[in-house]
Amino acid sequence: MMGQRFLWLLWAYTYCWSPGFCGKVVVWPTDASHWINLKVLLEELILRGHEVTVLVPSTNLLIDYQDTSSPFTFEVLQVPFTQETLDAIMEDFLNTWLNEHTKLSFWEVLWKVRKDLEVFSDISRMTCDTLVLNPQLMAKLQQAKFDILIADPLAIGGELVAEILAIPFVYSFRFSVGNMAERLCGGLPSPPSYVPASMGRLTDRMHFMERLQNFLFYLYSDYFYLDHWRDKWDEYYSDILGRPTTLCETMGKAEMWLIRTYWDFEFPRPFLPNFEFVGGLHCQPAKPLPKEMEEFVQSSGEHGIVVFSLGSMVYNLSDEKSNIIAGALSQLPQKVLWRYKGRKPETLGSNTRIYDWIPQNDLLGHPLTKAFITHGGTNGIYEAIYHGVPLVGLPMFADQHDNIAHMRAKGAAVELDFGTLKTQDLVDAVNTVINNSTYKENALKLSRIHHDQPVKPLDRAVFWIEFVMRHKGAKHLRPASHHLTWYQYHCLDVLAFLFTCAAIAVFILVKCCLFCCKKCGRITKKKKE
Ligand SMILES: *[C@@H]1O[C@H](CO)[C@@H](O)[C@H](O)[C@H]1NC(C)=O
Ligand SMILES: *[C@@H]1O[C@H](CO)[C@@H](O)[C@H](O)[C@H]1NC(C)=O
Ligand SMILES: *[C@@H]1O[C@H](CO)[C@@H](O)[C@H](O)[C@H]1NC(C)=O
Repeated sequence: MMGQRFLWLLWAYTYCWSPGFCGKVVVWPTDASHWINLKVLLEELILRGHEVTVLVPSTNLLIDYQDTSSPFTFEVLQVPFTQETLDAIMEDFLNTWLNEHTKLSFWEVLWKVRKDLEVFSDISRMTCDTLVLNPQLMAKLQQAKFDILIADPLAIGGELVAEILAIPFVYSFRFSVGNMAERLCGGLPSPPSYVPASMGRLTDRMHFMERLQNFLFYLYSDYFYLDHWRDKWDEYYSDILGRPTTLCETMGKAEMWLIRTYWDFEFPRPFLPNFEFVGGLHCQPAKPLPKEMEEFVQSSGEHGIVVFSLGSMVYNLSDEKSNIIAGALSQLPQKVLWRYKGRKPETLGSNTRIYDWIPQNDLLGHPLTKAFITHGGTNGIYEAIYHGVPLVGLPMFADQHDNIAHMRAKGAAVELDFGTLKTQDLVDAVNTVINNSTYKENALKLSRIHHDQPVKPLDRAVFWIEFVMRHKGAKHLRPASHHLTWYQYHCLDVLAFLFTCAAIAVFILVKCCLFCCKKCGRITKKKKE
């Protein structure tokens, strides 16, 4: 194994000697689960001989820039907010979505989304300021002569830095609310009749009311974001770049959009040549489990195990919720491995073990794994697809409802409402996905689709990043729609012209008829006389 790795590296470095292949990559930071995913891609770039520099805020959630074993070079941005502030923001965010959102109406939820967005936007702004208003640091980055910048459109600022440095940039991300950034800024065609808006919780089969809802959601998210960005970002971008511009226009300059889904998960939809769907790039074959864990898994016998995690952000629940969940798990014939950091629930059964951290990918790939209870984050969903494990979804926020809606539509998941969860619901749901073999069959079908690709997602993502470095961009993939106004894009000007022509033609025709009729009338009158 080690030898193989060494040969690999040797091969990579040999390749590097051909000029222009090994590049210098700079990364605008993105945090939480986005970082977990991006890190895999960056590590692969390192393996292929590229240099990777990560700009990192001194206060963040998951990027450990003091880790000396990290293969990345870190450039720390001294941001003015403290860890306590950031943790408090995250706690407030999670508390709303875990404990309060069921009490809120639809409009209150939208209002809350806007408030959260403003808070995160302010954090991005402070992070941006520490870099673009610091001439020494900017000069240092200029001198480093990077070939490419990798960013996430949800962590605003990357595109601005790329513009200042005059280098091409590539996006890596999952979605924006209502797909607004992809549609309006990236030009991705998304007919509202069958492409469900992100966070709308719909599938590609919509009846009239759902299509209406989807259409309105598109309109709303466009208005919502453009309005928010106009307030917060457009002037800032114009000031820094010294010409009138907008955030959306700057985003539209991305050479490639690497989207973290694929056709195993995504509903078929139109896309552009500069959009690549690389979902599951972080997935790997399962490695052996730690000894103690393997023994516990083996003790489950023919019933197998259930893996339970609510993701990297949610690690504590209210006592009430944790007791409901533990009570349900205790009724299962399977052994359960639960990733949980909160207080040990009283109802915890002898078949359930709590871990601070679990090797999730290795557990999902274990032959004894029967089901995965998940919050529905994209990373976990893809690990389940990769290994063909049916799901019980407990979605809470962000794209989680959507993700579970997709997996439900594909017949590989049962969804539960986290807010109103009852012990029996969870027991029934887990029994259903395990007893009823259709869930496992559908999960295996998705897994086969996922594995049967000409080029693996990670290789495709790396290929496009290297492509952009080699060719200093990918402008040949950029649709001309970026040069059109919205009414030109929808051909409203053409329709208006045709309509006017038709109206004039009808008008002339009617006039002619009237004229003729009058003439005829006069002639017949004369004849009668
Ligand atoms: C988890 O939450 C409970 C109540 O919500 C609290 O009492 C407990 O201290 C928290 N534990 C941790 C580790 O944060
Ligand atoms: C499903 O399996 C569980 C445990 O194996 C069992 O207790 C339950 O009765 C089964 N339910 C159905 C409907 O077969
Ligand atoms: C299994 O689940 C599928 C999909 O929900 C359902 O159509 C089917 O009737 C179920 N089979 C049994 C035996 O319950």
